[in-house]
Amino acid sequence: MWPYPRILAHRGGGTLAPENTYAGLRRGMEAGFRAIEFDVMLARDGVPVVMHDPVLGRTVKGSGQVSDYDADELAAMDAGSWFAAAHRDETVPLFVEFAGMCKAQGVWMNVEIKPAPGFERATGATVARTVAAMFAAELAGDLEARRRAPLLSSFSQEALEAAMEAAPGVARACLFERLAPDWERRACAVEAVAVHTSHRHLTLELARAVKAAGFGLFCYTVNDPARARELLDWGVDAFCTDRIDLIGPDFR
Ligand code: G3P
Ligand code: MG
Repeated sequence: MWPYPRILAHRGGGTLAPENTYAGLRRGMEAGFRAIEFDVMLARDGVPVVMHDPVLGRTVKGSGQVSDYDADELAAMDAGSWFAAAHRDETVPLFVEFAGMCKAQGVWMNVEIKPAPGFERATGATVARTVAAMFAAELAGDLEARRRAPLLSSFSQEALEAAMEAAPGVARACLFERLAPDWERRACAVEAVAVHTSHRHLTLELARAVKAAGFGLFCYTVNDPARARELLDWGVDAFCTDRIDLIGPDFR
């Protein structure tokens, strides 16, 4: 039901490195992680980049929208000095290059499709097609091979619908801040293999309902080891963490 790794580093290296950067990926790997979550949206030219916010300013020096810039412009911007001066050379990764690095390093990916408002379908379709092309051999293989391909997730139902239409063979998960009353209908509508949700609003009853319906269950972002143990006891299959120093990849 959940063939993927159990513990993921959130945004690459959690809060121990600039999020959604190569430095984050390296930091996660240094902590032993071979599974990460990260966010992807489209640049102005339709090229997917690894980025959380649709606006510049918080993690990337500059102003305006991500969709105001082409990918090669974003790929030259400072995405690290907000975190520490030593990271000022970090830039916004191109999704294809970042995913290629993960693949080469054996790092499994939960790719969160994070469309800027208005770009839901384009982002879902582009990310799904890109993953399908990069992982064609794995996706054509047996379960052991397919479990190495990334899992797509999104808060946007539209993005997931477009992903399903563009590349149905790439696994999808519905992502919720709080499980909506119609979570099961939404998951079925995009043939999701899993339901992803904030752990904050999850109850034992809801966890049991998701598992009883046959879906994988993933929580974000779990930073307290005691809460992590409780969630695993509830039957949660996997989670991501910002505290890769407190919760390692082999956490039980
Ligand atoms: O994919 C889980 C989690 O990353 C969703 O929230 O805002 O951290 O991308 P956010
Ligand atoms: Mg995310």
